[in-house]
Amino acid sequence: MVKKKVVLAYSGGLDTSVCIRYLQKIHDAIVTTVTVDCGQDEDFNEIENRALAVGAARHIHIDSREEFANEYVSRSIKANALYQGKYPLATALARPLIASKLVEVAATEATNFVAHGCTGKGNDQVRFDITIKSLNPDLNILAPIRDMNLTRDEELRFAMEENIPIPLEAKNYSIDVNLWGRAIEGGELEDASVEPPESIFHFVKNRSNEARYIEIEFRSGIPIALDGHSLNLLDLIEEMNKIAGSHGVGIVDLVENRIVGIKSREVYEAPAAISLIECHKDLENLVLTDHEINFKWIIEEKWSWLVYSGLWLEPLRRDLDEFINRVQRRVNGKVRLRLQNGSCRVVGRSSKNAIYDPDTATYSRRSVFDQRLAKGFIELWGKQSVVSNKIISKFEPLGED
Ligand code: ARG
Repeated sequence: MVKKKVVLAYSGGLDTSVCIRYLQKIHDAIVTTVTVDCGQDEDFNEIENRALAVGAARHIHIDSREEFANEYVSRSIKANALYQGKYPLATALARPLIASKLVEVAATEATNFVAHGCTGKGNDQVRFDITIKSLNPDLNILAPIRDMNLTRDEELRFAMEENIPIPLEAKNYSIDVNLWGRAIEGGELEDASVEPPESIFHFVKNRSNEARYIEIEFRSGIPIALDGHSLNLLDLIEEMNKIAGSHGVGIVDLVENRIVGIKSREVYEAPAAISLIECHKDLENLVLTDHEINFKWIIEEKWSWLVYSGLWLEPLRRDLDEFINRVQRRVNGKVRLRLQNGSCRVVGRSSKNAIYDPDTATYSRRSVFDQRLAKGFIELWGKQSVVSNKIISKFEPLGED
């Protein structure tokens, strides 16, 4: 019988390393591993060597950093995307990109089998499977950890027995990292009442107590310059991870609602994501109307939920992006941010498109606002409330709920 070729998404961690061996043992497969660089700043030679040492017949490295920054992260900045109002979606954004590369490699390798190392308890399986099937419904998806219902302890035991080298940190935690953030799960963090130890953080380190001011310039909703220096998005994010991280900014500790119904305690560090979204939101407040901002909140919430839920390729996500992109045309300007001891606070903003008008807002003599207009406005604005309270007072004393 001809052996089947399987293309496996490979990160170099525990799950995907044991997958190589399981695919060989259970499926008698010839495994091609694919590592997609989404800015995880890892030693990719070491990852390739590990893949080959564990048994991959071939390893493919794909540098997708620019694509990740420009096609995925940029949209999430414009959408101010924070799941449950807190998590910047780093993992959720990278999964559809990695899945699309798997589908491409499967085509060039002329096989109908792709594989991933996701467990059956998480969100990532949902994101991989839906994206893969959306791009090529003919592909068969193997997920050894899920298919065999393996626990992490069983995986660790198998790795030991099989002499599969596992990085030390991966023995204690399940970690996922890319340009937009780092997710840390498992180990002692599973006790939701326990504070995460400082030692787990990589981005947020070497903290300084001094305040640091930084200016971010946006064009069409995308950050384009840092302290007056033009940078492409990828470099700007990398720089922001360092700067904001060194001021303790970007730690998120969240009891998260997974797609599969489980509540999980997740710890993230995402200095660039947290600080850039803060700046972007602030600039939008300066240049968009009240109506646009209020409506966009609904869109942002839906967008974040879709992306979190594995529905990157859902047409609705693209439809929402049309709205978001249209609004972003006016989101140009500069935001000044103060970073200190874990806080990031916008302290100034300016834009040629500002709707904010100091001559209208001022309490000084400069004011161009005729206060007398307010009286009639209030009369009309409160009309229905005033009348309805008159009616209600016939049934119940006023002020009782
Ligand atoms: N809970 C986050 C998400 O679903 C992060 C998952 C991180 N994955 C991991 N293998 N540690 O997007």
